[in-house]
Amino acid sequence: MPPSPQTLWLAPLRGVTGLTFRQCLTRHFGHLDGAVSPFLTTVAGVRIKATHLTDIEPARNQALALVPQVIGKSSTELRTLLLAIRGLGYARCDLNAGCPWPMIVKKGRGAGLLRDADALRRMLDTGCALMPGGFSIKVRLGIESSGLLLERMDLLNGYPLREVTIHARTARQRYEGHVDLDGFAAALQACRHPVCYNGDIRTAADLAELRRRFPAVSGWMIGRGIIADPFLPGRIRGDPRPVAIERLRAFLDDFGDQSAHELSGPAPLLGRLKELWSYLHARFVDGPFLWRQIRTSRHPDDYRRILDDWWGREPQLVEITEGIKPPGTSA
Ligand SMILES: Cc1cc2nc3c(=O)[nH]c(=O)nc-3n(C[C@H](O)[C@H](O)[C@H](O)COP(=O)(O)O)c2cc1C
Repeated sequence: MPPSPQTLWLAPLRGVTGLTFRQCLTRHFGHLDGAVSPFLTTVAGVRIKATHLTDIEPARNQALALVPQVIGKSSTELRTLLLAIRGLGYARCDLNAGCPWPMIVKKGRGAGLLRDADALRRMLDTGCALMPGGFSIKVRLGIESSGLLLERMDLLNGYPLREVTIHARTARQRYEGHVDLDGFAAALQACRHPVCYNGDIRTAADLAELRRRFPAVSGWMIGRGIIADPFLPGRIRGDPRPVAIERLRAFLDDFGDQSAHELSGPAPLLGRLKELWSYLHARFVDGPFLWRQIRTSRHPDDYRRILDDWWGREPQLVEITEGIKPPGTSA
């Protein structure tokens, strides 16, 4: 199989894959074709936070193609968001119909949109009218159980969507438990649009296996797998450069410096660094020990001391072997 799979996307993770992360990741590791931004939302349906707009500012997003993502349940809200995004020059936008958090789902947003066919139809009408040829949607297999997406597929098939990204879990599962590859297979078969797969790709072998099983998939979206192992896109694409700890350190130094520059005050900075390390620590031998120290640190200066000490110990990377293990599926 050729080393370059179809489109490789960085998944949106609010609080992690913001502008600075995307810039640093691209500078130090590369090999991604694009990213979907963490979702933008409105304040009271009419205004968009300046920080959300800064994140997608085209001049700062030149190195990695970006598709802004929005969340909402009313077409008025969507219109506000799409006009602003279009005004920045974007011809693509993604609708979040997969966020699983109960507060969001209960309000009919995120995965909650799948429950209400009329609301979903209104969003698709507005999205496809305002972003002709460039409107896509990110969904789950269902809310309580798999199958709801299949019920909505006729509706989705009736619109000229650019792509449908399917996270192969239900909202009830959030991000845990096994991905449902049989459920994904059924949705893939029913969908008339290009389909992007998302969920638990942790290794190049995971992706190779998925590509073998689902040759019709047009794109692959990876989130936590890249945050825990920024070398992953390079491995997938056959980058000959060594997986050297110095490269990871340079990336982290850059990310820390840029974040300090961008954020005001020590608390947001430390919060951002902790969020990153909550995934990244798993990549190191003795990572849980390091993570305990970072998690309980109180100030970025403590964090820097902990890391200086850590690099001085010549830490070792672990091979990630825990990939997708669907139960009882004949992969
Ligand atoms: C902390 C966190 C924040 C997330 N934020 C978003 C978001 O803004 N938009 C979205 O569509 N998905 C969001 N997701 C879901 C991811 O994009 C992705 O679907 C999920 O992590 C599963 O893919 P992975 O197994 O490759 O990480 C988020 C997930 C997490 C854990």
